[in-house]
Amino acid sequence: MSRIAYVNGVYLPHPDARVSIDDRGFLFGDAIYEVWGVIDGALRDREGHFARLARSLRELEITPPMGMAALERVIRETIRRNRLRFGYVYLQISRGAAPRDHAFPAPPVRPTLVVTAKRLDRKAYEARAAAGVSVITAPDIRWGRCDIKTVNLLPNALAKEAAKRAGAAEVWLVDEAGFVTEGASSNAWIVDAHGVLRTRALDHAILHGVTRARVLELATALQMRMDETPFTPQEAAAAREAFLTSATNGPVPIVRLDGTPIGDGRPGPVTLRLRDAYFGAA
Ligand code: PDD
Repeated sequence: MSRIAYVNGVYLPHPDARVSIDDRGFLFGDAIYEVWGVIDGALRDREGHFARLARSLRELEITPPMGMAALERVIRETIRRNRLRFGYVYLQISRGAAPRDHAFPAPPVRPTLVVTAKRLDRKAYEARAAAGVSVITAPDIRWGRCDIKTVNLLPNALAKEAAKRAGAAEVWLVDEAGFVTEGASSNAWIVDAHGVLRTRALDHAILHGVTRARVLELATALQMRMDETPFTPQEAAAAREAFLTSATNGPVPIVRLDGTPIGDGRPGPVTLRLRDAYFGAA
């Protein structure tokens, strides 16, 4: 079945969907995006992603092209037209198309809205999570507002390509103080040598992951010991467990960091418990 995309009010076959060469997303990366995991045709962590979408728009002073309820109707229609059961929905809003000028168009132009859907192979995802993944580290060379979900993903793309070449699934980005900020497309976690669940506290250096928030809630309900403090790659190498979280993956065990096995080199019990809780609560 061919994929259907939504662009500025129209549903089109995916290969025919187009935006202008004057679009500010294309010219300046002046756009934000959001990704919802879809399980059994339903949006995962629906409200959290809508709240972050609204915040990203506010932070960049982009006027929403429609209200959140209308946006949700477009998303649901895109899921329906693609008969999507397991995968994700991608939504991007740019400041719109206008003659090239770095400053915002005045008066404002209509924002560009694109919604697409992507099917994923659930079995392959589960097999990957069961085996655990490898991660490498690299310097975090991104800008100062990584909390806004913008399409400025060049450093992330470069890092992911380096991971791919190293046979790894993700890159943990390391700030100038030597702490892991997050992954190129996921948040970073360890169960440290003392058995404490750790992930960096929210600041401008990381995306405020919706899955991160959900996993913190689950860990609280499971009465796990936790601490929102940053950790170094050295602490991660000495940790009992490590894992990543994102909307498309949920919690995924990490079994190697820069080639060194984490713990006994197999997915750890805390990670698997959180993964079960996350998908059990879907
Ligand atoms: N990425 N950090 C970064 C840099 C990300 O790009 C993502 C998500 C996350 C996890 O956030 P959440 O749990 O809300 O998905 C953290 C999405 C999935 C992507 O770019 O495809």
